[in-house]
Amino acid sequence: MSDWVVLGEDERIHMVELVDSTLRIKGLGVFNPKLILSEIEVGEEVLIGQKYLTRMPARLPELIKGMQRRAQTISAKDAGALISRMGIGPGDCVLDAGLGSAGLSLHLARVMGNSGHLLTIEPREEHAEVGLANLARAADCFPEFPQHDHCEGLVDEVVGNTGLEFDAVILDMADHSAAINACAPMLKFGARLACYAPNTSQLESCWQTCIDVGLNVEWAAEIIERPWGRASKGGVRPTKGAFGHTAFLLIAIKN
Ligand SMILES: C[S@@+](CC[C@H](N)C(=O)[O-])C[C@H]1O[C@@H](n2cnc3c(N)ncnc32)[C@H](O)[C@@H]1O
Repeated sequence: MSDWVVLGEDERIHMVELVDSTLRIKGLGVFNPKLILSEIEVGEEVLIGQKYLTRMPARLPELIKGMQRRAQTISAKDAGALISRMGIGPGDCVLDAGLGSAGLSLHLARVMGNSGHLLTIEPREEHAEVGLANLARAADCFPEFPQHDHCEGLVDEVVGNTGLEFDAVILDMADHSAAINACAPMLKFGARLACYAPNTSQLESCWQTCIDVGLNVEWAAEIIERPWGRASKGGVRPTKGAFGHTAFLLIAIKN
C-alpha cells in the first residue's frame, strides 16, 4: 500500500500522507491520518469532521486534481498529445524543462515505467520544491516509476553536463531559444523536441530556432478542447465559458 491516501469530496481531491501523528490537514481539519485512514479501503466512505469523503484509487487524474500548484501546469489536453506524437514510453530517456509544478512530469512518469529515465531541470527553488513534492507522491502511488534525476539551473547551462542522450525533450519556458540550442545536439537520431509556446511570437521563434539548429519541424498546432455538459432542460450541449487557450505545441525531429 502507498504512503498516501486519496480522498474524494465532490469535485475536490485531498491527498493525505499516512503519518502516525495528529496534524492539521488543509481543508480537512485536525486528525491522525494513520489512525483514521489506514483501514479504509478504496471505494469506502470515511467521516472526517463534518465531511463524508470517499477513498479513491491513486490514479493519474486524482493525483493531478490533488497536486500542489505554483507555476502554470501543462494539462491532459496537451500532455496527452505530446506523449503520443513524440512516441514516449517505457525505456525512453526524456528531459522535461522547466519542471515547474511537475504537471507534465506526472503524465510522463505514468507512461515511462520502471525502465524509463526522466530528467527534470528547474532554476527556481520554490518551483522545484513543489514539483519534486508532487513527483515524490506519484512515485509512492504509481505501480511503476522511471529513474528520476533532477538538476537545478537553466537547461541551457546544465543539460550539457548530464552526459545523456535523449529520446524526447519537452521545453516549457518563456524563452526557448537558448534551450533548443543546448538540447538539439543531445537528441538521438529520430528523437523529438517539443516546445510549449503560449503565444504566437514564441511559436514563431521556436520554429526558427529549430530550423537554425537543423531540426525538422514535424507538427505545430493548438489543440482545442470543447467541453460539453447536460442541459437543465434535457439534452447535451457545449458548456458556457470554458473554451480557453493554453498554448501552441511544436514538435521537431532530428533526422
Ligand atoms: C510554466 S512553468 C512549467 C510548468 C510545467 N511544465 C508543468 O506542467 O507543471 C515554466 C518553468 O520553467 C522554468 N524555466 C524558465 N526558464 C528556464 C530555463 N532556461 N531552463 C529551465 N527551466 C526554466 C521556470 O522557472 C518555471 O518554473
